[in-house]
Amino acid sequence: MLVSARSFAEYRAMFALTERDLAQRVLDCPAGAASFVAEAGRRGIDAVAVDRQYAEHREELGLLVERETGFKRERLVKETADHVWSWYTDADDMIRQWTANARDFRADIAARPDRYVAGSLPELPFADDSFDLVLSSHLLFSYGNRLDGDFHRAALLELARVARHEVRVFPLMVYDTRERYPGLEPLREELADLGVPSRVERVAYEFRPGENEMLVLATAGYRTPARTAAGAAVAEDPVRWRHREAGD
Ligand SMILES: C[S@@+](CC[C@H](N)C(=O)[O-])C[C@H]1O[C@@H](n2cnc3c(N)ncnc32)[C@H](O)[C@@H]1O
Repeated sequence: MLVSARSFAEYRAMFALTERDLAQRVLDCPAGAASFVAEAGRRGIDAVAVDRQYAEHREELGLLVERETGFKRERLVKETADHVWSWYTDADDMIRQWTANARDFRADIAARPDRYVAGSLPELPFADDSFDLVLSSHLLFSYGNRLDGDFHRAALLELARVARHEVRVFPLMVYDTRERYPGLEPLREELADLGVPSRVERVAYEFRPGENEMLVLATAGYRTPARTAAGAAVAEDPVRWRHREAGD
């Protein structure tokens, strides 16, 4: 799996984020070397990044992205030949943008390490309802032919557990097959039965042809005993509770 480094602007487009959305406490999971949280911080947005790579690699993750994209340039040029070049001008521009984003990530993880938390789905080290809005890009559904249905269900419920209002997931297309994740509708039904209704929304971001939809989970009604039990085990991270301290 390529650790990627998308930007704040890309996140805003992928997840159709409004100013109102960004006034909330936001979790980026998995964040990889994306610069969403870095730019969010500069804008005064209360955002946290989580990724399983942060346990092993932190600042150097940005360097790894640079090396990896350079190393895979030929493959990226070939794989992206039929892509929609409205966001990047070509594969080299994509590598340039990701390199700049990864450098921004590196500087921010060094300057604000508490904003970058090591964690691995389907179990996150956050209390229930720690965030208002959770954003998840390019893991779930994207790797739908390598991560099975049980993982997807457990991961989405875990994201719902830590989200007070919404979880947004982009894209819905499996990377290798270029088809919409085949288990999406049964999974949505299962989640709805557990108190997590959802909708699919078209967004104004398309890089891979046809990959322009996000899944939105409404999480306010999700209450399970597991939610409370998992939340009780983790309470000491200082960045978790700011929206509560603010009396929100
Ligand atoms: C393709 S990157 C996407 C990064 C970012 N969202 C972006 O769009 O630039 C996928 C990320 O998922 C992380 N990852 C893979 N499995 C994970 C898991 N079980 N829990 C948390 N992160 C995971 C990888 O470390 C990698 O950084």
